[in-house]
Amino acid sequence: MGSSSMMWMILVLPALLVATMSAPVPETLTLSPGCVNRCGNVSIPYPFGIGKDGGNDCFRKGFKISCINNSVPVMAGTGTSPDIQVLSLSVSPHPVAQVMRPVSWQCFNVTGYVTGSYYGELGLDVEGVYRISSDLNELVILGCNTYVQIMAGAGERHSYMYYTACVAYANDASGPIEGACTGIGCCSVGVPSGITQSILSFETGGYWSHANQTFCPCDYAFIVDRGYYTFKRADLIHTDVNGSLSTTSMPMSLDWAIRDKGSLPWTCAAAASAPEYACKSVHSECVDSKNGPGYICNCTAGYEGNAYVVNGCTDIDECARPEDYSCRGKCKNFDGHYKCDCGTGYKSNDPYKESCTPIIPLPAQISIGIIGGILLLAFIAFIIIVRRERHMRRELYRKNGGPTLEKASIIKLFKKDDLTPILKPSNTIGKGGFGEVYKGLVDGAWVAVKKPVRGNQMESDQFTNEIIIQSKVIHKNIVRLIGCCLEVDTPMLVYEFISQGSMDDILHGGEKKPLSLDARMNIAAEAAQGLAYMHSQANTVILHGDVKPANILLDDKFVPKISDFGISRLIARDNEHTALVIGDMTYMDPVYLQTGLLTAKSDVYSFGVVILELISRKKATHPSNTSLVNSFIENHKKGMKSTELFDPEIAVGADVGLLDSLADLAMKCLDLDVDQRPTMTQIAEQLVAFIRSRQM
Ligand SMILES: *[C@@H]1O[C@H](CO)[C@@H](O)[C@H](O)[C@H]1NC(C)=O
Ligand SMILES: *[C@@H]1O[C@H](CO)[C@@H](O)[C@H](O)[C@H]1NC(C)=O
Ligand SMILES: *[C@@H]1O[C@H](CO)[C@@H](O)[C@H](O)[C@H]1NC(C)=O
Ligand SMILES: *[C@@H]1O[C@H](CO)[C@@H](O)[C@H](O)[C@H]1NC(C)=O
Ligand SMILES: *[C@@H]1O[C@H](CO)[C@@H](O)[C@H](O)[C@H]1NC(C)=O
Ligand SMILES: *[C@@H]1O[C@H](CO)[C@@H](O)[C@H](O)[C@H]1NC(C)=O
Repeated sequence: MGSSSMMWMILVLPALLVATMSAPVPETLTLSPGCVNRCGNVSIPYPFGIGKDGGNDCFRKGFKISCINNSVPVMAGTGTSPDIQVLSLSVSPHPVAQVMRPVSWQCFNVTGYVTGSYYGELGLDVEGVYRISSDLNELVILGCNTYVQIMAGAGERHSYMYYTACVAYANDASGPIEGACTGIGCCSVGVPSGITQSILSFETGGYWSHANQTFCPCDYAFIVDRGYYTFKRADLIHTDVNGSLSTTSMPMSLDWAIRDKGSLPWTCAAAASAPEYACKSVHSECVDSKNGPGYICNCTAGYEGNAYVVNGCTDIDECARPEDYSCRGKCKNFDGHYKCDCGTGYKSNDPYKESCTPIIPLPAQISIGIIGGILLLAFIAFIIIVRRERHMRRELYRKNGGPTLEKASIIKLFKKDDLTPILKPSNTIGKGGFGEVYKGLVDGAWVAVKKPVRGNQMESDQFTNEIIIQSKVIHKNIVRLIGCCLEVDTPMLVYEFISQGSMDDILHGGEKKPLSLDARMNIAAEAAQGLAYMHSQANTVILHGDVKPANILLDDKFVPKISDFGISRLIARDNEHTALVIGDMTYMDPVYLQTGLLTAKSDVYSFGVVILELISRKKATHPSNTSLVNSFIENHKKGMKSTELFDPEIAVGADVGLLDSLADLAMKCLDLDVDQRPTMTQIAEQLVAFIRSRQM
């Protein structure tokens, strides 16, 4: 039991599957369940249907189809006419029923007597829904001296009307040409509209005698789908009646329409409000019949299906059928229509028909690409340069002892970018052997940035040490080192900015401002204190190496501040001869020049020259016979006072004596015997003593 039902399944299931898969998509919906919409392989869409008249609603009145032997669909002929076999039924886009019609014929014996004939009566009801299609059919006749006309039923008053006719003629069997239906043996002509019940009638006798036409024993005539039949000479001369056209049928198309009122005019306008109005679907419209009275129903544009059935018209997915609905761009389906556009970046005058082209033409695209590429490369190069620069800065920072100074955290370590805005030619306030000095604002404070000339390389360790030492020095007479920048080849130094400039500017500047003896005494004393302080540092003796008026700066209260402490020496260290270049020869200790050994007494010598400049307000120049230093020394050797060398502004009254004392002090500083020179501390004390004595 179980196994047999299993066997049944195995046998039947594939068949069912095949049937399901190969079944054509249903062309229509049936109105009520139980209606069969197929007969044989012909589908039967509503308003057609199979069933008994009045039995159900499977078909509309006049559209009944009978399914003979469950396989052959036929429509009933009228009166004595036989049923008409149906080949196909279509609802849209054109309402057509394709049927078979037997060929009409007549044959003769040699004396021209008719031996047999069939006129092929087509029994279509004049009041019915069908008309022979004039668009789709043609009348074809075959014969050698033949005249055929269509005789169609035309109501009660005239039993027949002649509609159209054709003549075929041939003298002998050689006349007709294969495939050419042009009047020799074969004739074809269009069919007028409106024809229903009809026969094809042959003229015989008289002029149309068929005597002695043994090469052409029969005439044939048929209404056939246009283009279906191609003329064959064999059909004309066929002697075996059983195999000839007389035993065949030809396919022919019928227009159908809703003709509820028979042959009376019955238009859409009149029908639309009638209860039996046939156009049931939404998105459907009524079209007046072009062949006979009545109307047809059609889905409106953008929809397809069966307009005679409720909801029979459905949206067409135009995008899925590009061969029917052209779109050269991007297709988008909507209910009842579709849209076609090119999408962004493309254009077309008519995207439905003309292909889309890029809005930006190819050359432009190429150039945009090239420019973009160049920009990208430039950007990458820029990034690389920036990174390399950053790397280099870090490298220099490290090389210049940044990490050590960072740990010491004594002075500020400036970034290169902090100082870059200051390093402009317009900010230059000084130039010298050391390098250039710029004035600028950093963090709200005025600073002087010293940028050494390139090539003044220093060893990083020593530089770092010096910086640390320098930064520890906080003395009111020494310019304070605020910080440095290590991210450059040669580190830059940032000092506090001293407003009045150098003593050199004050003494020898363009406009000689008055400068009292007291002021000068103060400057000398305090500058000496600054130098003494540095010389007497506990751990390291810090030497200046380039003491001169230009390195003694004055603030707004004329308090001297010594600048460039130790830097020139520091820079000179690497190069035996640099000292000659950097130090100012005018103030240079001759002993140092000889020995190359810089000592505290070298600074003392230089300070002696500074004192001489201070009291004479004359610029010391490089040793020559007429130089300031030589003049003083000459006078000193001769035991003479140098009164004539003093600045007249201060060489007045009792002050001359003090100036003499100052000159004497300077002479001691300039002693070529280094040991005879006083120390800076002694000089400072002496100067303070002078000031005290004046105040008493
Ligand atoms: C329908 O069936 C007939 C025979 O039954 C066949 O000749 C014809 O080609 C078929 N038509 C279609 C459309 O399959
Ligand atoms: C229907 O079937 C019968 C019996 O098989 C047959 O005689 C008849 O010719 C068939 N009719 C058509 C239209 O095929
Ligand atoms: C042709 O048919 C007519 C009428 O049936 C007959 O009188 C005549 O003899 C026939 N001719 C021939 C040659 O058979
Ligand atoms: C037919 O041919 C015969 C003899 O060949 C001739 O006598 C007769 O007149 C012809 N008939 C016609 C209608 O031409
Ligand atoms: C034509 O067919 C019919 C019936 O099928 C037959 O009686 C007749 O002899 C046939 N004619 C010829 C010439 O074969
Ligand atoms: C029905 O509509 C389609 C598309 O709107 C059109 O192509 C067709 O010609 C119409 N049919 C009739 C009979 O008007």
